[in-house]
Amino acid sequence: MSAIMRTYKQLPVAFVRGRGATLWDTQGRPYLDGLSGIAVTNLGHCHPRVTQAIEEQARELVHTSNLFRIPGQEQLGAELVSATAMESVFFCNSGAEANEVAIKLARRYGHDRDIKTPTVVVLDGAFHGRTLGALAATAGEAMRQPFEPMVPGFIRIAPEDFNGLKSLEAQADIVAVLVEPVQGEGGVRPLSRDYLLALRALCDQQNWLLMFDEVQTGNGRCGALYAYQRLGVTPDVLITAKGLGNGYPIGACLAKGEASATLRAGDHGTTYGGSPLACAAASAVVNTLADPPLLARADVIREHILKAFRDQLANPEHVAEIRGLGLMLGIEVTVPATGLVTSALEQGVVINVTAGNTIRLLPPLVMTNDEANQLGYSVAEIINQAPEIAA
Ligand SMILES: Cc1ncc(COP(=O)(O)O)c(C=O)c1O
Repeated sequence: MSAIMRTYKQLPVAFVRGRGATLWDTQGRPYLDGLSGIAVTNLGHCHPRVTQAIEEQARELVHTSNLFRIPGQEQLGAELVSATAMESVFFCNSGAEANEVAIKLARRYGHDRDIKTPTVVVLDGAFHGRTLGALAATAGEAMRQPFEPMVPGFIRIAPEDFNGLKSLEAQADIVAVLVEPVQGEGGVRPLSRDYLLALRALCDQQNWLLMFDEVQTGNGRCGALYAYQRLGVTPDVLITAKGLGNGYPIGACLAKGEASATLRAGDHGTTYGGSPLACAAASAVVNTLADPPLLARADVIREHILKAFRDQLANPEHVAEIRGLGLMLGIEVTVPATGLVTSALEQGVVINVTAGNTIRLLPPLVMTNDEANQLGYSVAEIINQAPEIAA
């Protein structure tokens, strides 16, 4: 029995080494990684450029404080701003924290307009993190109920309900709309480009901030540095984390236009955020991702996985829907999903199931075509065997 609080139902495997798309457990057994630590190691485990940057920076200076200028932070900020349509950035340590920054920014933006109870619109199916503000923005009732009372100031609407958007216009106090371009935890559900365009138009018309939570969709995962670039709908606030450090913790809240100057001295802070070490790791990631052929791998790997999957799937009726964008791949199954992850592990493959019945694949961009074929083949085999497992 470990001393770790039982907040996770952990699987009975411990990984001790990783390279590219391969993990090894304590027994030295290799596993094909179709999860990337939940969309974190987008460049694969121990990517040489990231490892080198961490090693070199760890020898120079690990931490100072945001009380002083941090050259590596300024460099990473400049790199991110030049790679996106954003103009300023606040660095923190995780996705939930980055969403907290965005929520505070939206509220401050409201107060600057004399809105005393600023309200953020969020979606059914959303996941934004486990801290109290991010949790209040998150949809899952079971996650929220034990921690009530929730932080007020959120309105929840159904995604893709264009008529529902119209009714928002009459609501006073709205300051922002916060969405994931592809809902990750909610079942790998992409929002349509038309819906995102409608949100953009509504925000422009009402002077609300459009805020994209790209914690999971970002950093190459969807075949562009950020998914918004592929979807052609630009937010005012861009939230990211996960893959930004390829495993070294770092989060970022970027903003453009008026929102880029909304947070002022004393409005927010962090001890660790944007440390020299975190920024060195993230700079290596951002520079590595500035390579169109690497980003293009997202769709190639996806096609290999799906072709092998379809070739091997015994009964198409075992799959309800295949969804996603780039290397965010959701396969909603009609077979019992309990046990699919364990049965994959037994076959040496790491996958995830989310939203009850959706197999979620988040492999790294460095996965080879052969590995992608093997992943697709293995997932189909696991589904082929599933009804027997459940019986
Ligand atoms: C879209 C989205 N936002 C926020 C978070 C929270 O990130 P973190 O676990 O780093 O706090 C996640 C994590 O899964 C996420 O997928």
